[in-house]
Amino acid sequence: MRVGVLTGGGDCPGLNAVIRAVVRKGVAEYGFEFIGFRDGWRGPLEADTVDLNIAAVRGILPRGGTILGSSRTNPLTVDGGVEAIEANFDRLGVDALVAIGGEDTLGVATTLAKHGLPVVGVPKTIDNDLSATDYTFGFDTAVTIATEAIDRLHTTAESHHRALVIEVMGRHAGWIALHSGMAGGANGILIPEVPFDLDQVCGWVETRFESDYAPIICVAEGAVPADGNLMTKDTTVDAFGHAKLSGIGDWLASAIEYRTGKESRAAVLGHIQRGGTPTAFDRVLATRFGLHAIAAIKDGDSGKMVALRGTDIIRVPLAEATAQLKTVPLDRYTEASAFFG
Ligand code: F6P
Repeated sequence: MRVGVLTGGGDCPGLNAVIRAVVRKGVAEYGFEFIGFRDGWRGPLEADTVDLNIAAVRGILPRGGTILGSSRTNPLTVDGGVEAIEANFDRLGVDALVAIGGEDTLGVATTLAKHGLPVVGVPKTIDNDLSATDYTFGFDTAVTIATEAIDRLHTTAESHHRALVIEVMGRHAGWIALHSGMAGGANGILIPEVPFDLDQVCGWVETRFESDYAPIICVAEGAVPADGNLMTKDTTVDAFGHAKLSGIGDWLASAIEYRTGKESRAAVLGHIQRGGTPTAFDRVLATRFGLHAIAAIKDGDSGKMVALRGTDIIRVPLAEATAQLKTVPLDRYTEASAFFG
């Protein structure tokens, strides 16, 4: 059997660990051959491939990024996109595909599976916002990086008696802000799910200064003021219709300084959260996802996604995986609010 592998959407630490596990088990246990597709769905669309074998995956377990490259190409918005992929699979002798991606990549995989292409999905996103799995790999690494950044911001904020705002990723879901803010002892956490009241945030900042501490506010890029709008870099959107989010951290730091009279600055963590080596947790989760995904291909269990449920890896229908986003429940946010101010 010849199995294609692709990684689509925003990269995240652990992608290489999945690729390695898929290939190692596939070759050693099932005698499969592999073909790598470059840059997400662009690879199958344009038949852009790369050799994928045991030698190609040697040494990649701790490496960030993806040896296959990634993109946000959406074949469903390309005229004849699905037909082109089907034709390329036929020509290249691809019998099945492992698609490693988030809601967008797996949404395309769901459509292709409905067209009869044997596809198994592996969930990835640093945002941890896929509903069918308890955790996605990449999230733990992003939270670890953001937590270390908050630890560092505390000491400089205190030296200068400043308020510091840290902007972390999280377009629709505030998981990174919630976890890193809690782990790093932030004095306020702002997430997309709960529009924030600027007066309340300024109140937290003032209370913190009163007790001789410098406040740290951790804000997700998709957080919105109760009486304002989502902040975007420009008016462009990607192939899946997502705007480029940017600006909430700087806006908030200026607003805090203006209202409280206390010097405030913002640090925007950006893609640092997505780069570099995965944590041990993410390496193990990604490896287990890879092992179970290739087993699903072997079983002919197409149209499924591997998922973490408790400590078990299970298979769920791909359609279920992308049906709705896993956002932060209000009780989790309320729980964290014990430390605000
Ligand atoms: O989906 C993962 C993610 O990192 C989001 O948190 C963020 O909004 C987006 O990707 C950024 O995308 P890009 O790297 O294309 O700017």
